[in-house]
Amino acid sequence: MRISVIGCGYLGAVHAASMAELGHTVVGVDVDARKVELLSQGKAPFFEPDFEDVLRRNVDAGRLTFTTDYAAIAGAQVHFIGVGTPQSETGAANLTYVNAAIEGMLPHLGQCTDGPEVVAGKSTVPVGTAARLAEQVAPTGVTLVWNPEFLREGFAVKDTLDPDRMVYGLPDDERAAADAQAVLDELYRPIIEAGKPRLVMDYQTAELVKISANAFLATKISFINAMAQICDAADADVTALAGAIGLDDRIGKRFLRAGIGFGGGCLPKDIRAFQARANELGVGESLGFLAEVDKVNDAVRHSVVDTARRLLGEDLAGKRVAVLGAAFKPDSDDMRNSPALDLAQEFTDLSASVVVMDPAASPILADREGLPYEIASSIEAALNGADLIVLGTEWKQFTTFDPAKAAELVARRIVIDGRNALPREDWKAAGFTYAGIGRR
Ligand code: UDX
Repeated sequence: MRISVIGCGYLGAVHAASMAELGHTVVGVDVDARKVELLSQGKAPFFEPDFEDVLRRNVDAGRLTFTTDYAAIAGAQVHFIGVGTPQSETGAANLTYVNAAIEGMLPHLGQCTDGPEVVAGKSTVPVGTAARLAEQVAPTGVTLVWNPEFLREGFAVKDTLDPDRMVYGLPDDERAAADAQAVLDELYRPIIEAGKPRLVMDYQTAELVKISANAFLATKISFINAMAQICDAADADVTALAGAIGLDDRIGKRFLRAGIGFGGGCLPKDIRAFQARANELGVGESLGFLAEVDKVNDAVRHSVVDTARRLLGEDLAGKRVAVLGAAFKPDSDDMRNSPALDLAQEFTDLSASVVVMDPAASPILADREGLPYEIASSIEAALNGADLIVLGTEWKQFTTFDPAKAAELVARRIVIDGRNALPREDWKAAGFTYAGIGRR
């Protein structure tokens, strides 16, 4: 099939490459000429395991091209919208890019000769957006579907080609819905044949599936982080607690890792956009708990500074703090809403002398001017002379680092494990005072 993907950021570029991997002919469109240039050469503009291989293979095979010209989408059978929906000042989702994508596409829609033509929305949008876009697209005779994306960074290709489920939000018109469903089934055939559930519903429900899934995940993390605060106060251990409650299938053990909280380009903005939309719909109170989820997420970060003061003394001025991690999670160079970087900033604000090290993000940070903290390119350089080590992102390089070696490098043997990911007993055996999050 011929496919177009509008928006070649994280979501769009991975989707485009993955669809080409299924054997389709794909064109990706983005307004950013530099990004288009890189992708056309088979180079990934961001760090994502497996992505560059899939990208290069399909570019080389001639199945995958990129352009800044919307005219290239003419004649394709499925057009994906994969642009970003960033947070606006009010917390609501900013739909500028979605609207621009539709405007750019409109003159070129309705030219497919292979069968029914479909526009498929992937971006995370406020409920009600798909119905509005469907009206805009209607005059071209093309059907709009809402097909949300659930990929995680670090597992983006795997999550696209081997998803837990696929969701199709279809129009009320039965004939159009059946045609569009058949087109998507054909597009995703290898995934459906592999037995992955494909769930069919209306637009609004499909939009809500995506945002409520992220709200649930954020809630799960803040729940366990709230338990961590209780554990700290009661001298209990949250990792043992999480392990025990997680064995109940109804709770499940994943996403119960207490730590300095969730960050990234999705969860923080999505819970705020969801609240904003609920307010608009007059049911703001129903999502009032998401404000608490946000608050807990903030509080766990601050708790690290409190712990640092308890261990090092009230005044942190001049203390050398090594923050291990800058990306919002391991196997990513994404620093949007990064808990680790927030911590680095907070220690800096308290006049500590801060050094940050991240396996993927250090080179990016090193290019930035005017940063208030130092950037180290090796773990050893970061630990050298440190009064305090803070683990902010649980990269394997950090969690497997030899504590005995760390002990030789630091000025004082104190470590705060912000992700409860270091081997505690090994660090203690190397002479470190160890503090986790909610771990006695
Ligand atoms: C998330 C959703 O998982 C994905 O389905 C959606 O499509 C986009 O948003 P992502 O932002 O890539 O994906 O990261 P995720 O792996 O969900 O982690 C989010 C944050 O939560 C990270 O900062 C991570 O460190 C933190 N986290 C995760 C915890 O603090 N504890 C956990 O138990 C799990």
